[in-house]
Amino acid sequence: MRIGVIGTGHVGVVTCSTLARLGHEVVGTDRDASRIATLEEGSVPFFEPDLEELVREGLQAKRLRFTTSLPEAVAGAEVVFICVGTPPRLSGEANLVAVENAARQAGRAATGPLLIVEKSTVPFGTSQRVLRSLQMERSDLDGHLEVASNPEFLREGSAVEDSLHPERILVGADSDSAHEVMRRVYEPQIAEGIPFIATSVASAELAKHACNAFLALKISYANALARVCERAGADVRQVTAVMKSDPRIGGDFLDAGAGYGGSCFPKDLVAFDRLSSRLGYDFPLLREVARINDEAIAAVVDKTRDALWNLDGKRVALLGLSFKPGTDDVRFAPALSIAKAMILEGATVVGYDPEAGANAKAEIEELEIARDAYSALVGSHALIVCTEWKEFAQLDLARVKELLEYPIVVDGRNLFADRDLPGKGFLYYPMGASAVEP
Ligand code: UGA
Repeated sequence: MRIGVIGTGHVGVVTCSTLARLGHEVVGTDRDASRIATLEEGSVPFFEPDLEELVREGLQAKRLRFTTSLPEAVAGAEVVFICVGTPPRLSGEANLVAVENAARQAGRAATGPLLIVEKSTVPFGTSQRVLRSLQMERSDLDGHLEVASNPEFLREGSAVEDSLHPERILVGADSDSAHEVMRRVYEPQIAEGIPFIATSVASAELAKHACNAFLALKISYANALARVCERAGADVRQVTAVMKSDPRIGGDFLDAGAGYGGSCFPKDLVAFDRLSSRLGYDFPLLREVARINDEAIAAVVDKTRDALWNLDGKRVALLGLSFKPGTDDVRFAPALSIAKAMILEGATVVGYDPEAGANAKAEIEELEIARDAYSALVGSHALIVCTEWKEFAQLDLARVKELLEYPIVVDGRNLFADRDLPGKGFLYYPMGASAVEP
């Protein structure tokens, strides 16, 4: 099939290259000319494991190309995916100007019947608006323009794997014909046995909110438990291990720590809360999930203060600055909130991250960036784990102790929980259990 993809951010590039792998002829477009030039050369302008290889595969097979001309990407296409950014406004609501522009321009450029597929993370009701905008642009194509919602469930850092082998494909559409077209798009994956869930547009849009909010809720549940465990002398890892062994609860997203971040959960929770109240339903549970997350981030600062007494005049080393391992994305990263809070209290903060150092520095000027984990520790009074990159788990603890001014570790991700730090002479602060003296 001939498919156009508007927007070549994270979701857009993954979508383009996955659709090319599925055998379609795909043209991706973006108004950012330098981004398109980078992609045309087979490079990806952000860090995402395995994505560059997938893009190159599509380019070489001539099933994938990129252009700055939106009409060129849309002309002749049977399906056009909208993957443009929807950044939060100051109010917390998503800014949908780019979605509207993409829809209108696609409508104008359509050369025949067209199915527009909404893939950007958008609030409920967006597809209806997209359809209306299309119809306004092209009354001549009345009855031949359709809209589907195909929410993305991929995670940064494993986006390629998630996109090539998704747990399910969700398509919301209000006509059988649109569902049929989308079955053809994903035919190779459906043939592999990946479930295709067909719903109405409204249900698909709400399902995306529902999934993200529930995952965030699981994390916040674990973090609230962590606060109780710390007071009760229990260990949250032991408690959640029991929970995880119950298949009705499920084993994922129950790791207590420094809280969730990223471009999705924090933003989606606010958007879902606003949507609910706009629909006339107060959903305070969502606000509570966000509050518990703030509390989890604050807990790391509190533990550090407890260990160091005064933060003023101290030097602290933050290991991990991205919102999770495997990405250079620092949007809503707990590490940045922790760094800002400590700087505000007068501490000098030095950070290290395998990928996200430059992005973190761009957000917080006062943050010093070290070239590796060990150099971050030189002269620091405490080590704080903010993101659980694998390489941190393998640090030589004897060397860590030698480099630190005080042997203090605040483990925001319980990364060293099984390495007996107190036995090695550290004052160890885990999450969800009491601090242990050496
Ligand atoms: C999330 C969802 O997992 C995807 O399904 C969804 O498609 C995506 O949002 C989106 O809406 O686009 P992502 O934000 O990339 O994906 O990252 P996750 O792997 O979900 O992690 C989110 C945050 O939760 C990270 O900061 C992570 O450290 C934290 N987390 C995760 C915990 O604190 N504890 C856990 O047990 C699991």
